[in-house]
Amino acid sequence: MKSFWNQRYSQDEFAYGKEPNAFFKNELDKLQPGKLFLAAEGEGRNAVYAAQKGWEVVCYDFSEEAQKKALKLADEKGVTIDYRLASLADINFDKAEFDAVGIVFVQLPEVIRRKNFQKISSFLKSGGTMILEAFSKSHIEDQRENPTVGGPKNIDQLYQLDSIKKDFENFEIEIATEVQTNLEEGIYHRGKSSVVRFVGRKI
Ligand SMILES: C[S@@+](CC[C@H](N)C(=O)[O-])C[C@H]1O[C@@H](n2cnc3c(N)ncnc32)[C@H](O)[C@@H]1O
Repeated sequence: MKSFWNQRYSQDEFAYGKEPNAFFKNELDKLQPGKLFLAAEGEGRNAVYAAQKGWEVVCYDFSEEAQKKALKLADEKGVTIDYRLASLADINFDKAEFDAVGIVFVQLPEVIRRKNFQKISSFLKSGGTMILEAFSKSHIEDQRENPTVGGPKNIDQLYQLDSIKKDFENFEIEIATEVQTNLEEGIYHRGKSSVVRFVGRKI
């Protein structure tokens, strides 16, 4: 799996662009900058945007190629991000220290998703904000209509809103919705896409 991502990120072009995910940006812009954690952050588009807005950013991914490009992007924009090379299973913090957490298109198989998302949510302080966008199960139909739209082909890695809400039961929900949106993110997320969106405040 890691080799798939390293290969994807080894080209010069940014796979999902250099601009942040639109939903993430919109929600982050409503918050006071503080300490932000980003899961599986890839080439750093969300991390670098947040750092430019004054957030102290910690993020990780297991792809060496992703880390290289993210640090290059941060350099290009004149910001610093704490980007750790780590696998989902290995990342840990001693205490809940983050004011916000972003999970953007992190598409895990059902059997490991809840455990990992709940672990990531434990890094948030009480009152902290979780922002998530990910492909939903309906995205299979979008892929049938447009095979180059992107997203996992395996339905097990696509999400249902109810399951995501259960992952974050200790949250006061601000947004929990499934919508169809037009993605224009780099070369791999393009076109009509079905996504789940979640914004919640940790109780
Ligand atoms: C679709 S990309 C999204 C990247 C980024 N969040 C964004 O929105 O641009 C999914 C990312 O998950 C990372 N990833 C997948 N499984 C992982 C794991 N077990 N541990 C760490 N990173 C992982 C991949 O390397 C890839 O960068």
